[in-house]
Order: sequence, then C-alpha cells, then structure tokens
Amino acid sequence: MDIEKIREDFPQLRHNFIYFDSGATALKPIPVLQAVRDYYDKYSTNIGRGIYKTSHKATVAYEKSHHKVLEFFQGDGEVIFTKNCTEAINIVAHGIDWKPQDKIIATYLEHNSNLLPWFRLKKFGVVVELLKCDPEGNIDLNELKQRIDNHTRLVAITHASNVIGTILPVAEITEISHKKGAMVLIDGAQGAPHLEIKLNEIDCDFYAVSGHKMMGPTGTGILFFKKKYFDELNPLNLGGGTVSDVYTDSYKLVKNWERFEGGTPNIAGGIGLGAAVDYLNAIGMSEIRKHEIELTAYFMDQLRKIDGVRIHGKMEPEKRTGVVSFRIKDIPSHRIAIIADEVGNVAIRSGLHCAFLMTRDILKEEQGTARASFYIYNTKDEIDHFVEIIKKIAKDE
Ligand SMILES: Cc1ncc(COP(=O)(O)O)c(C=O)c1O
Repeated sequence: MDIEKIREDFPQLRHNFIYFDSGATALKPIPVLQAVRDYYDKYSTNIGRGIYKTSHKATVAYEKSHHKVLEFFQGDGEVIFTKNCTEAINIVAHGIDWKPQDKIIATYLEHNSNLLPWFRLKKFGVVVELLKCDPEGNIDLNELKQRIDNHTRLVAITHASNVIGTILPVAEITEISHKKGAMVLIDGAQGAPHLEIKLNEIDCDFYAVSGHKMMGPTGTGILFFKKKYFDELNPLNLGGGTVSDVYTDSYKLVKNWERFEGGTPNIAGGIGLGAAVDYLNAIGMSEIRKHEIELTAYFMDQLRKIDGVRIHGKMEPEKRTGVVSFRIKDIPSHRIAIIADEVGNVAIRSGLHCAFLMTRDILKEEQGTARASFYIYNTKDEIDHFVEIIKKIAKDE
C-alpha cells in the first residue's frame, strides 16, 4: 500500500499540517469532495419529489449511497442517514415506546452521546444502570450477565473507546444480552471507520455511526437497525417524504428509509458518504487496520522511552484502535495540545473527550488527557516529528 499516494488524495495534508485528530472527524479525500461538488454543480435538486430527470438523478444517487453503506456494514437490516452518530442514538432513544421500570444498561466507557439520551428517559420511569470498567477498558461479562434482568430492554455499549481505543467484544456482549432478552445498541463511532464491520456476525439490533469520522462529509451519520424494528421504531421527524397518504386526521407511513428521514435530507452529504464508502473499500478495511496497528505500536514504543509520559489503556496495539491517550507529568492536557499546535502544527485532541466518566472517574485524569488518533493518511515520519515535541515538553516544562 502506497501511503504517499493516498496522502495526495487529502488536500489539507499539502500544507505542512499533521492531523492526529481523526477520532474527532476524519479528513476528506478528493473523491468525496468531488462527489459533493458534482452534486452541487450538476444535479443539485431535491430528492423523492420532482419527477424531472435531474431530481431523479439525485434521488438515485442518494438512495444508492444507502445501499453502499448497508453493503459496507454487511448487515441484513435497514440503513437510515442521520446528521451524526449522536442523532442516530437519539433516534433510538426517542423511537422506542419505553415503559416505567424498563432498564437500560450502559458503561463507564461511553461517550456522552451514548449516555445522555438514556439518562433523559429517567423521566418516564426508565432505569439506567452503568457497568464499571477497569482503566484498560475491560468490562466484566459475568457482571453484565447478572445485571440483565427481566426488566432490561437495552444494552447500549461502545464498539471502541474514544479515550483509550479499547475494542470491546461486541459480538459476545450481544449474544449474552440476547440470551437474556435484551436488545443491543452499539455506538460504532470509533469502530466503523477503523475495523471491518460484519453486522450479521455481531448480530446487534442497532448500530450507530458518524459518517464524518469515516471520511464522509460533516453532517452525516448512520443508523443501522434490524428489519424487525422497522414498524416498531417511531420516526423522530414526521412530515415531507415520510408518508404515502394523508387523511383528515391520520396518515400512512412509507415503507422505506424515507420514513425516518423527514424533510429534505443532507443530500450532498449522503452522496459524499457513498463516495467515502467506495474510497474505504478501494483501500480495504484490513489494510487500514494493519496500518493503524503499525502506527499505534510505533507511537506507543516511542512514548514509553520518554521519562514522565504515561500512556493509558492496553499496551497491545491489536487490542485497540489507533487512539492513544497520554499525559506528560502533570502538565495540563490542553497545554500539550497548544504546544503541539504552535510549535509543530500538529493537531491533537485534549481534555475529557466527551467521556467524562471514563476520563475523570476511571482514568483519574481530572485535567483530561492528550489524545492522538490516527488514520490511513498518517505516517511514522509524522509521529517522529510529534515525539520530538513531546520529548521537549517533558524536558522543558
Ligand atoms: C464513541 C463516540 N460516540 C459518539 C460520538 C459522537 O459522534 P458525532 O459527533 O458524530 O455525533 C463520538 C464522537 O467523538 C464518539 O467518539
């Protein structure tokens, strides 16, 4: 695989810019930018409404993206487009008819986007329980088994931690939960862009994704769900596009994804997301994974040699995604990020990473951590450059 050639597809990398914040959002390759541009240049019309040729072309392109995404995730179910992963999770939280005493189990590993939507349901009498994890991100599967009782309707869990990269055994978690009658929602924001996802094997009920973290345009996300939830899940937005008929006091919902995408969707974004899937497929998810493991191993090896640096999470790179959280002595994480940016034009994330419970309560990092996150366009040379900055901070500060 020729990384230098891949890098040419990312215009932002031409300007001496080192981007280690793909965990927040990925850079977009030229084919994605081109697909968005083509739509606006050549067939920028609404979809599913006009009967003229251009609208038909846009409808077909947007719809085709849904098929591409479904194929990409290898799942026998439905795919709907959302504005991000947060919205995908909220659609499930709002879409299920919860009853008082229903129980939802989540974990301390979760991003706030996979906690707050469940906490809000407490006002309907829903009980939310959190499973603790250790500082490496391991959860006790026996404890999970014991916690799932007759009231438990949902287990909501991340595929991979956005703080320390730990990959969770989501297929096993799903099997345990299903055996005890609970549905499973997986927050795939940090899994989908980096791992080959076979939803048929994982067998979860819902899988939520950030389209923008897998090189799609910002404003894109995905919710996958099993076919059996099609009629059970109440759409978040009703209105244009969601119905096949309207009577004086009722309506009939359509039988495809449009039911869940009320109003004019992010058409350009959806088309761009299809191009992103093509791009990832052309490289191959196994190649992406291999490259990220190599970069992560390399970075952690370098970090381990620097006095005063502590790395969080598992030490085996194959057990994590390319997300590495660390601290340098007691230097505030934001200071590390500012120096990296100002001295070396290196973009990293710092703080609590919208995962307050994990970062503050489990890792005991009240000040947050510095987090580098890699993707296919990153190189060992870039890591060397960053490591020199870290060494300097560790020595001088
Ligand atoms: C694990 C995890 N879940 C959810 C989200 C929220 O994603 P989005 O910004 O697409 O809503 C993120 C974003 O960083 C994340 O890392």
